Amino acid sequence: MKKILFLNGPNLNLLGTREVDVYGRETLSEIAKKVVRKAEDLGVEVDFVQSNHEGELIDKLHQGRGVYDVLVINPGAYTHYSVAIRDAIKAVGMPAIEVHLSNIYAREEFRAKSVIAPVCVGQISGFGSKGYILALEAAADL
Ligand code: DQA
Repeated sequence: MKKILFLNGPNLNLLGTREVDVYGRETLSEIAKKVVRKAEDLGVEVDFVQSNHEGELIDKLHQGRGVYDVLVINPGAYTHYSVAIRDAIKAVGMPAIEVHLSNIYAREEFRAKSVIAPVCVGQISGFGSKGYILALEAAADL
């Protein structure tokens, strides 16, 4: 069975109460439940992880080498500057899909640049939590 790793970066643990006008009222665990339910329908297995620490996200990527077939990543603010996470994705060689709840191109200028996107198959941005389901569907089809 295809295995998909969902990695979530800093501050995403605060979803539901954090800038609800931008990110919505759903919590990360509610999103995770939806993803797991959809994964069952699609016949794929998912692990759903969140960390506020860059090194921990990188460790998860290293440990996932040879375990997972596809990575879905919302790197949070690391999207915009973590060359280390970008290098880790490249190093483990897992096909990756970048996902964002908000449309990063319609916000502050600094968010319009993703250093992660060039090492991903594609990016989904601006569809709220639905983006996680879209990413799952894309990952299942890869
Ligand atoms: C985000 C967008 C980032 O710019 C921001 O730092 C986040 C969340 C999103 O899902 O829209 O933490 O990745």
